[in-house]
Amino acid sequence: MLQNKIIASLMVALTASMQFTVNAQQFASSISECPKLPGRTSPPTNPRDLRPDDIKVIAAMGDSIMAGFALEGVNDGKGGSSILNISSITEYRGQSWGIGGDDNAITIGNFVNHYNSSVEGRSKGSHLATICHGGLCLDAFRNQKKDVLNAALSGGLAMNLKDELDYLIPRMKKLPNINFETDWKLITIQIGSNDQCASCLNPFSGEVTVDKYSGYLEAAVERIKKEIPRVLVNLVGSFNVSAVYDLTKGQEYCRPLFNNPDAILNRVECSCFLFDDEARSNMDVLSNGYNQGLINIYNKYKDQESDTFAVRYTPAQIDISGFPLEGMSNMDCFHPGKLVHQWVAKIIWNSLFLPQAEIPTSMYQYKADEKVYCPAETDRFRVD
Ligand SMILES: *[C@@H]1O[C@H](CO)[C@@H](O)[C@H](O)[C@H]1NC(C)=O
Ligand SMILES: *[C@@H]1O[C@H](CO)[C@@H](O)[C@H](O)[C@H]1NC(C)=O
Ligand SMILES: *[C@@H]1O[C@H](CO)[C@@H](O)[C@H](O)[C@H]1NC(C)=O
Repeated sequence: MLQNKIIASLMVALTASMQFTVNAQQFASSISECPKLPGRTSPPTNPRDLRPDDIKVIAAMGDSIMAGFALEGVNDGKGGSSILNISSITEYRGQSWGIGGDDNAITIGNFVNHYNSSVEGRSKGSHLATICHGGLCLDAFRNQKKDVLNAALSGGLAMNLKDELDYLIPRMKKLPNINFETDWKLITIQIGSNDQCASCLNPFSGEVTVDKYSGYLEAAVERIKKEIPRVLVNLVGSFNVSAVYDLTKGQEYCRPLFNNPDAILNRVECSCFLFDDEARSNMDVLSNGYNQGLINIYNKYKDQESDTFAVRYTPAQIDISGFPLEGMSNMDCFHPGKLVHQWVAKIIWNSLFLPQAEIPTSMYQYKADEKVYCPAETDRFRVD
């Protein structure tokens, strides 16, 4: 009897200490250190019950950031390669923070793949940029084999989400090894940086108001709801692009043209950077408005929960002013480089397991050694 009691209490102590170890390992330096999840006892029946290993199809929409544009920067090497070098206007989609699938790339696509390697949709490798400006997108530059379900368009504005869905939906239906009707899908959408910049550019300024942005986003979400079954849409917030201006001002790293410290390529890519402080603070006002629009969409669809569709809002209060310069692509000092892509993959992933109320409201500060969250058996992608 006594022996049994001792054994029982030993077991309790042992279980408790195991639990402690598991908790201590909730964050790891790399996803490969995260323990795999034991198989589920019953499959998910609605999108509020999804774990990473339930995701069979991963997709993404957005702009040049999601496309991984210029992520590798310019390799100065011996003699230096110029901005005119074709590798400078390349999209490194295989390393895109949201959906890249290159070996060992630190991306949400690969984090999901760690839990279930049968996931389909990650983008691979690199190719010449698919340039898009306002209404016009040069879709001919798409490479379906490499892009897979990364529908992002470099230069894309919220108004182009429609074009992205025109590519994404048929492409998803054609994917081998999936069941379009029954497989669970995760679609990440992040857009708004070009919209902020275009607020200083005629004739686009009228297309990037908060109302227009919100309308385009809602139309995209509504279409996904109608046309794609069993899906979780992750709306990732807009961040203040204006901070890039001060971060990069006068920096040799940004390869100023003609040795003029103010002649950095980002001044052309972001029209507002050619104007005054007011133009840039107006960008912040817009970005805040876009986020309010996303929150409204989230709240609207939360009231329409179903067994086949859900929306999540993931704030992206990223403090760009605190980035190390080498976090930016030295090609133009406008696009994030590989380090920032890797960091964003981790902070966004980490918050996917938190309900809105527990997501930190403070700004995210870049950390080279940011840890990645290892979900436990009971964790779910939260939509509440
Ligand atoms: C272009 O850039 C790539 C990668 O940075 C480099 O390997 C190559 O040598 C460059 N080519 C020229 C002509 O500079
Ligand atoms: C991966 O997902 C598929 C279908 O979504 C499922 O049948 C399979 O059991 C999962 N594998 C793992 C290791 O979880
Ligand atoms: C953007 O800037 C505005 C104005 O400075 C600030 O109120 C807001 O919190 C910032 N938002 C993000 C997401 O960084």
